[in-house]
Amino acid sequence: MRRPVSTLPAELPSPFPPEASTRGQRRAVAATALAAATLGVLGTFLVVQMRAAGAGHGPTAASGSLPHFMSAVRQVEEPRTIAGHDVDCAAGNYSTKTLKLIAEQPLAGLLAGPPPANGRQRKEVLPPPSRFEASDVTGVAGSNEVFIVFDNTFRIGHVATGVPYMAAASGDKGADRRREVTPNRLLTWPNDDGAESEFEGLAYNATSGRYLVVQETVVNGTGTLVPRIHEVSLDGGEAKVHSTCDGAMAFESEKKGMEGAAIATAADGTFYLLALCEGNGCAKGDAGREPGGGRVLVMEREATGPRGCSWVVVQTVAIPPRAAFQDYASISIYENRRVAVVSQENAAVWVGELDLLDGRTDQATGQRSLFGLSGGELYDFPRNDHCARIFCNVEGVHWLTADTLIAVSDEMKSGGRQPFVCREHDQSIHTFQVPAPVPEAA
Ligand SMILES: *[C@@H]1O[C@H](CO)[C@@H](O)[C@H](O)[C@H]1NC(C)=O
Ligand SMILES: *[C@@H]1O[C@H](CO)[C@@H](O)[C@H](O)[C@H]1NC(C)=O
Ligand SMILES: *[C@@H]1O[C@H](CO)[C@@H](O)[C@H](O)[C@H]1NC(C)=O
Repeated sequence: MRRPVSTLPAELPSPFPPEASTRGQRRAVAATALAAATLGVLGTFLVVQMRAAGAGHGPTAASGSLPHFMSAVRQVEEPRTIAGHDVDCAAGNYSTKTLKLIAEQPLAGLLAGPPPANGRQRKEVLPPPSRFEASDVTGVAGSNEVFIVFDNTFRIGHVATGVPYMAAASGDKGADRRREVTPNRLLTWPNDDGAESEFEGLAYNATSGRYLVVQETVVNGTGTLVPRIHEVSLDGGEAKVHSTCDGAMAFESEKKGMEGAAIATAADGTFYLLALCEGNGCAKGDAGREPGGGRVLVMEREATGPRGCSWVVVQTVAIPPRAAFQDYASISIYENRRVAVVSQENAAVWVGELDLLDGRTDQATGQRSLFGLSGGELYDFPRNDHCARIFCNVEGVHWLTADTLIAVSDEMKSGGRQPFVCREHDQSIHTFQVPAPVPEAA
């Protein structure tokens, strides 16, 4: 049967994999990971010490001083230690492992500014936002328009991605005309009082033509932190909410809940919501930062629950540990097979396969076996001249084509919590080309 875990009410399914589903086992896993991480940090420390000792003394001075200088600059630009995947820009595989930026626009350039001068005067209750804390993006694959959610406002951005040749090259004569009539605009949300939305996930249901908007965590009527999922239409100037259901689960922290969402179709043709946990093992704190424990919750909508409906976790899918990320920010699935999972902290994307499994239920855990994630390549967002992370706030990702990703970035953290080099690309929409695999040498 379903096993209780400390962070979830006893009757609910565990988001932890069956192999680590008891508290003791989870502790053991965490302790091992911590030991490994400590050794890793120690190793880095020793390397830095050795480099420092080498630079300026003895025969290695001439060759050692430049890398030492570069790493010193990088230390200043990246004062925090980020666990897990990193890049060696000098390794020789930079061009094949790094996403190529092909278009970018600050969101303020698309969505801020005065309301339209002509047309009917709409009662403008709220001033237009000046900050755009973008948290997820989605659209209809193949179209160059996307919707963006923000965690600081209920309003939803509707923009064209700004890659004009893609629409033109598609042979679709209507595309150019449609782009001209597409306003870059903010849709309103019913009864918006200007509060922060905590929107973190956005998924498109191609069958219904509706979108699922996920609030990371809300405090429900009995004081539990739950994710809240709204089913909406985004055709008009205002989002139309068809239903609102909570996730039948409990998170430990309001800042470490659900971070991304996508819809996938199982082998039997049933749709599920795939929601990404921000922390490793869906945990907060140090445990949540231990790389390699990425988790996707497979959720099914049930017609019962406190709001007349609820989303129930029926399976927890492990992201392959190759995605050794400190956090997980967004998921997008292209044509029900190609998956992208973004890490904000590591500034990288894991690209792998969605496997459709037999759907059977494990009697011991209550877990269904609907989806798997396998294979996988890691790609990094571009670094600066000192190999420092400059795409520090990517929170949303969407497959535009099989090798093109749209990403959106939140505002950089203030008060010295992030290096100044993070500013240039924050609060923006970016289009990236995923490098093609290098052909095998004949
Ligand atoms: C998508 O829409 C179809 C048709 O309305 C519906 O049956 C299905 O449950 C929806 N899937 C999700 C995950 O909302
Ligand atoms: C709050 O969430 C918990 C956990 O899902 C659930 O047991 C409880 O019924 C919910 N309360 C309300 C009022 O929705
Ligand atoms: C790039 O090459 C380095 C050195 O061979 C290797 O450690 C690293 O894993 C490679 N990067 C990726 C993303 O495969």
